Amino acid sequence: MRADELTLEEKLALLVAAGKFHTDDLGGKVRRLNVADGPSGLRKETPEHPEGSPSRCYPSAHVIANSWNPSVAESVGRAIASDCRDEGVDMILGPGVNIKRNPLCGRNFEYFSEDPLLAGSMAEKYVDGVQKTGVGATVKHFMANNREWERCAQSSEIDERTIMEIYARPFAIAMRAHPKAVMCSYNPVNGVYASENPYLLKDILRKKLGFGGVVVSDWGAVHNRARALKAGLDIEFPDNPASAGVLRQAIERGEITEKYVDDSVNRILGLLEDTCESAAVLTVEKREQISLSAAKEGMVLLKNNGVLPLEDGAKIAVIGEMAKNPTVCGGGSAHVHSSLQSRPLDEILKGLLPSSEITYSQAYLGCVPMSLGHGDARRAAFASDVAVVVVGNNMYNETESLDRESLALPSGQEKVIDSVIRENPNTVVVVEAGSSVDVSAWADKAAAIVYTGYAGDMLNEALASVLAGETVPSGKLSETFPLSLEDTFTGHERGNGFSDRYREGVLVGYRYYDAYGLPVRYPFGYGLSYTKFEYSDLTLNCDKDNVAVSFSITNTGERDGAEIAEVYVEHFHSPVERPPKELAGFGKVFIRKGKTVRMTVNLGRKAFAFYSTVYGRFAVSGGTYGIAVGASSRDIRLQGRVELEGDINTF
Ligand code: BGC
Repeated sequence: MRADELTLEEKLALLVAAGKFHTDDLGGKVRRLNVADGPSGLRKETPEHPEGSPSRCYPSAHVIANSWNPSVAESVGRAIASDCRDEGVDMILGPGVNIKRNPLCGRNFEYFSEDPLLAGSMAEKYVDGVQKTGVGATVKHFMANNREWERCAQSSEIDERTIMEIYARPFAIAMRAHPKAVMCSYNPVNGVYASENPYLLKDILRKKLGFGGVVVSDWGAVHNRARALKAGLDIEFPDNPASAGVLRQAIERGEITEKYVDDSVNRILGLLEDTCESAAVLTVEKREQISLSAAKEGMVLLKNNGVLPLEDGAKIAVIGEMAKNPTVCGGGSAHVHSSLQSRPLDEILKGLLPSSEITYSQAYLGCVPMSLGHGDARRAAFASDVAVVVVGNNMYNETESLDRESLALPSGQEKVIDSVIRENPNTVVVVEAGSSVDVSAWADKAAAIVYTGYAGDMLNEALASVLAGETVPSGKLSETFPLSLEDTFTGHERGNGFSDRYREGVLVGYRYYDAYGLPVRYPFGYGLSYTKFEYSDLTLNCDKDNVAVSFSITNTGERDGAEIAEVYVEHFHSPVERPPKELAGFGKVFIRKGKTVRMTVNLGRKAFAFYSTVYGRFAVSGGTYGIAVGASSRDIRLQGRVELEGDINTF
């Protein structure tokens, strides 16, 4: 069907949702589009379950990104979309690809990374996986919604180069998977609401990024429906009885022509057709397997003095309420009401370590150490070979609409860690959080630290498998853990409520710490394993459009395991300010102990380019570039140089 087969009234009805999560079916003339949140699992709000009916909760985006394995993103996307199909949902409101500019942002757990290439690569595959089932994906929030504080009012003020290189880049990469929809953000960008911003929605999204799908609003983000239509916004969510009148009046006054209406309606009709075909969904067993293996791959071993993996036969004290009730997901619209009651960590460990004596003590309740339980925990730690303390944030302090006040863990939990370590220095601390946390109060004293992230309802199974050594950890951080909040560029600064100027420009995340030579607690791309990897034999093969970076990785440790290799481009004499290095490619490979694998990462010219505001496009300036291959952004193992011809005139 095309727009010209509909009356003006019908067309206007399609431009505004007919309910909180569905569009109008025009009395049966067209299909109704049912949408639901995303992105950590299906959150379908129903009258009986206004907070979402029970559903599988998958690892959140930051855990997927910590796997550095795009096929994990793809399979999680496919599994969630299979849940959507079962429930009659045509389009999922995810993935979220906003850049983690500040670790306090309450929605960081919903986003992939501080790095646009990693975020975009994960989003691309997530979208691919979702759309393989015929369900549409919605890449959100376009764009620069990087904090929750005053998110509906405060303008993100950003220069064009930074927009193109950092904030729009994950969306640009996700476009390779042709997402059916993009959701605009709440915030204004450079003074104009994203929902009404033609520079964002037309010049960047449609023209530069080549997006041909449907733009939907964030929920309640439209301020003037006519201006939003003119800027390129297709569907306003949720329903808004005033909007059809606003549109009609704007047409009558000549402020918009019917051509705008028809263009949007045709895109919406295309979406209705595209999402009606149901392709193969995964079995329920397969979805569970995907959730579990994604959770395992996304876990990051931050420290280990050798206490991990736990030995079968060791006396183990499992401590902390979260060992029984893990934080499987953050809060807000991404919160999935999990259909699965987590199994207690101590019970799962008992299955994996049958000769071990394992005790459990609660120790704290939320943020508060329990006077009695705390004593039990100390006694248990004292009497054991190893203590495992599970701590972290929750769906109330990491949530949509709120930013965290500090990077510290709830203070009561820090006290528990401290007193357990005093009883037994052989203490493993497990952190469940959606973004980086300040671990300085206790990290040096802990024997080992595992960062699980919000790993979905299989969190405890995956964690037990890592602790017991059944899984060799292979995740690496998709965001930097700074030493303290003061070391971040933004610190406590959050704008004045009207505008927030992104003064750091392109120096976001590790780009900033590297540029200023700042020490960090755990660098971007960092994560340990139970085995060891050595890198050797770098070769660089350049042709006109590609630099092939090849190198060998040898598993020199005692266990089979997977390694993530990160390839950075180093900038030397650039005509514009650039970070010392930027992630340009990566690969993850499983290597048996004693074996060597050769990996090749191909870097196209875009990997070397900056966005030239003079030419209005990405451009490479001629000269020498460094190629650095690392096990993390601060653990560079191999280095080489390439000479590239420029494609613009610079000095
Ligand atoms: C969030 C979106 C979400 C929408 C619908 C908004 O508050 O920002 O990410 O998809 O609600 O629940």
